[in-house]
Amino acid sequence: MAEVVAPIDVTHTSEWTALRDHHERLQTREFSLKQCFSTDPQRVRKLSFDLGELHIDLSKNLVTDETVKLLVALGRAVGIEPRRDAMFSGAHINTTEDRAVLHTALRRPASDAGALIVDGQDCVADVHEVLDRMYAFANDVRSGVWKGVTGRAITDVVSIGIGGSDLGPVMVYEALGALPRAVRVHYVSNIDPNDMSEKVKGLDPETTLVVVVSKTFTTLETMTNAREVRTWLLGGLTSQGAIDGGDESVAKAIASHFVAVSTNLKLVEEFGIDPQNAFGFWSWVGGRYSVDAAVGLSVILAYGPEVFDELLAGFHEVDTYFCETPLEQNVVALMGLMNVWYANFWGAESHAVLPYNQYLHRFPAYLQQLTMESNGKSTRWDGTAVTTKTGEIFWGEAGTNGQHSFYQLIHQGTHLIPADFIAFANTANPNRDGEQDVHELLLANFLAQTKALAFGKTAEEVRAEGTAEWMVPARVFEGNRPTTSIFGDELNAHALGMLVALYEHITFVEGTVWGIDSFDQWGVELGKQLAKQITPAFHDDEALSAQDESTRALIAFYRKVRR
Ligand code: F6P
Repeated sequence: MAEVVAPIDVTHTSEWTALRDHHERLQTREFSLKQCFSTDPQRVRKLSFDLGELHIDLSKNLVTDETVKLLVALGRAVGIEPRRDAMFSGAHINTTEDRAVLHTALRRPASDAGALIVDGQDCVADVHEVLDRMYAFANDVRSGVWKGVTGRAITDVVSIGIGGSDLGPVMVYEALGALPRAVRVHYVSNIDPNDMSEKVKGLDPETTLVVVVSKTFTTLETMTNAREVRTWLLGGLTSQGAIDGGDESVAKAIASHFVAVSTNLKLVEEFGIDPQNAFGFWSWVGGRYSVDAAVGLSVILAYGPEVFDELLAGFHEVDTYFCETPLEQNVVALMGLMNVWYANFWGAESHAVLPYNQYLHRFPAYLQQLTMESNGKSTRWDGTAVTTKTGEIFWGEAGTNGQHSFYQLIHQGTHLIPADFIAFANTANPNRDGEQDVHELLLANFLAQTKALAFGKTAEEVRAEGTAEWMVPARVFEGNRPTTSIFGDELNAHALGMLVALYEHITFVEGTVWGIDSFDQWGVELGKQLAKQITPAFHDDEALSAQDESTRALIAFYRKVRR
């Protein structure tokens, strides 16, 4: 194990103190976005960035030129650039697991083979070897060359996985839903049997392919669901008379209907899946950073290799930008630093992500794992305690639905909630309501919300509408609610890859400032262990008596009412 270099304590840097003083000055001057815009005609130009086809406007954030300067200085003080370079070159920056962090290698072009040898492995060559196998397999399934055990082509895929082995593929599958799909994919993640039974309802085992996705191939939910779907599939094939249920026919059915994605190919084989039907990835790909590894197989099955290549190219474009752009102009780094600004100086507790595109409806859920499993930590990468508040609570919902739900609190509540708005100029489904382009109505809402949040509505403006004096305060909008607008051309695979990589690196920047290892996830272990201990207590009194009083009482209730 390499020696672990202690992170710089960001709170003891002069840059941190400068930011704190700067924040106090802004507060006493009663910072106003309206004023920022009126006094600086260059504000929008200075705070707008073109990241490939994404246009990102940071101008409605609670920052001045001085803030940006100080944030960049803070980023330099904690060594964002050298740590970024260490990550890209395969240093073991995941210290608690002693691993390299190389999801960025997953999207490097094949021509980079030989350029990244880490721990003796030619990472890019290995990535493309697996990609090529996946593409060949997907082409066979999509064209009907690959057949189920009765000789019928595959129409449906059941994907079993959870966390990073589910959220990324589902999000991408949904996000690209405007494109034609060669197969339908049904994602089963929850150990709740309701999930499985709803997803396999109406499927024909003869035309269904199961993809079991698990980095470790030990996850309770996934292994339980994998066994359950195997029982469903073999039972269905037997009752339909497609197989006789003997060992040979079962083995043939599994070979035709089961594939796996994992880093643990030994356990895949023990489960009974032919190693020929297994697609590997590596310990240097974290679960929540793995949608662009073999974990994305279901996406390739649905949309095809070309679309996946576009997705990877989008990721790679942001990787290159993040590496090559000086921090001052690096919108990826600036977004991460601004999140720190809000969390640590403005006391923001959470961060909303609001996609004005229904196809992105799973994007907030995806980001929740990416950001919170990465940075929800109170220990730094050398085992010492963090020195400031860390992590942001990410949440959100597709616009305009959210407007009729929780936006009230963002506009007029007492919490400061920085919000990222994501929208696209072009829609896959143009439609008119009479003369009105409906997509433009959506875009008008996106723009109206960011405008209202930034500039609000004054008491004078409310009075001018003839509002009774006692009601004026209820109708005032303070403004100064920070937003970032991410505006793209259209939601395609390339833009989606860019969006995901953008948030991956934002998360990295925040983690670096806080001194956190953003690539481990020890916080999920205790619950997993306790679930194993608790399971016998439903039936066994000795196991029950070993539980705490509250858990005992809850199990007693369960025992009383269960049928
Ligand atoms: O919940 C913890 C976690 O390890 C996630 O980080 C991961 O994405 C998920 O479980 C699934 O793990 P696996 O892919 O090993 O089944």
